[in-house]
Amino acid sequence: MATTTLPPPRAASGPVARYVGPATVRGAQPTRSGDLTARLWSEDLTREHGFEPLEIEGAIPPELAGTLFRNGPGLYGHGAQRYQHPFEADGAVTAVRLGGGQVLGASQVTATAGLVEERAAGKILYGFSAPWWRRLRNMLGGRAKNPANTSVMIWQDRLFALVESSRPTELAQADLALHGVTDLGGVVRGAFSAHPHRVAARRATYNFGVVQGRKTELVMYELPDVGPARELGAVPLPGPTMLHDFIATERHLVFFLSPVRIDVPKVLLGLGTFETLFQWKPELGTEVIVVPIERPAEVVRFTTEAFYQWHFANAFERDGEIVVDYIRYPTFGSFGEIGRALRGGSGEILTAGRYHRATIDLRARSLRSEPRFDRGCEFATIAPGAEGREHGATYLVLGDLAAVGKLDARTGEVVSHELPATQRTTEPLFVPRPGATGDDDGHVLALQHDGPTNRAFLAIYDAARLPDGPVARAWFDHHVPITFHGTFARS
Ligand SMILES: [Fe+2]
Repeated sequence: MATTTLPPPRAASGPVARYVGPATVRGAQPTRSGDLTARLWSEDLTREHGFEPLEIEGAIPPELAGTLFRNGPGLYGHGAQRYQHPFEADGAVTAVRLGGGQVLGASQVTATAGLVEERAAGKILYGFSAPWWRRLRNMLGGRAKNPANTSVMIWQDRLFALVESSRPTELAQADLALHGVTDLGGVVRGAFSAHPHRVAARRATYNFGVVQGRKTELVMYELPDVGPARELGAVPLPGPTMLHDFIATERHLVFFLSPVRIDVPKVLLGLGTFETLFQWKPELGTEVIVVPIERPAEVVRFTTEAFYQWHFANAFERDGEIVVDYIRYPTFGSFGEIGRALRGGSGEILTAGRYHRATIDLRARSLRSEPRFDRGCEFATIAPGAEGREHGATYLVLGDLAAVGKLDARTGEVVSHELPATQRTTEPLFVPRPGATGDDDGHVLALQHDGPTNRAFLAIYDAARLPDGPVARAWFDHHVPITFHGTFARS
């Protein structure tokens, strides 16, 4: 069983930057009351557009050339008809293109086949807000919407919008135009997680999908930098479940299967709400599944105490053990918090997670896990190219989307930029300078949100001087709902 030893709490530290408000912003919307976090989880994208100039505040670093792609909910329903949970939302990709002295922004709801069908019908046809008889018919006919609402992947210079329940949806990098759903050359069976991880040393990206059916299987995929994708292998799972993310070292794929189980009779009968389909069964514990990439049939699996995680930061091998950095929750309660935000609830969301470092001993089949600091956090990322090997820094969101943090992986020191109370941040992504010599030699990009003006903006930080606040901002003229994940494509 795992042992958890609490080190002395280490508070996030670092000076809070003086905030210079959006003085140059024109056309500000009236201030609206209400909790900004809840608005990000419940209010639709207010304007769709192709690439157009954004309003710049500060000096854009000239070496920053490329496009940031972000994905998240775009529509939380059709008109007055709302979805039951933000995870049912129709996806929207928001992008910021930097270079040549320009900053251009685009924001586009992904017009998936299901959304097109619903728009033509003028009502919700899929998911748990559809009438019960339609849900049953969808279930029996194997029909579901692919909302493409969680993350993006760039593979072999192709852009894909991802959601864990479905196959990838390919978009054009130039203008976000929809190309269509793909199985990557007949390889992807169905579900394809929104969390692919590229391992630079293997020149390949890894991902998985949970295939639900008479048997539940975890199917793993390898997407090489060059050449066709392939199925790496499949592992049987104990029952229908939700598995959001995994992590890869240079030799192993690591899964933490938390005790979330899907209520199959409710699904088959088309009954219940989206949230009640997922049951937290702590008595089952969390199963650790480790798959050797070279010998995927030689799976090591064992059960430890129950915990939940949405996301990993990184994993690597050291002294014969596997080290895993991840955000650990005591329960699955955050799923309900997110759902309540869409139904008018307010309050903090995703603040119960703590940054943990787990060490897995494969021979002893044991896992021990310890928090690195005592503050709620989420959406942890590391330098691109560092996945699978020991990293120097983790970037993450702290508190209720309240701050951008940087954790020094070796010393445990956390520095942060605390946003004004009227703003929120989303996942920070590190973009190294050309020829970078360290994990903070570059810039951190985060799409952020301003409550009083109801506008989203790209914040650009000097990664080595994060607490000083953004060196530049590029403002959209409208609200953008929360974006979960993204990637930066160099041009
Ligand atoms: Fe995620």
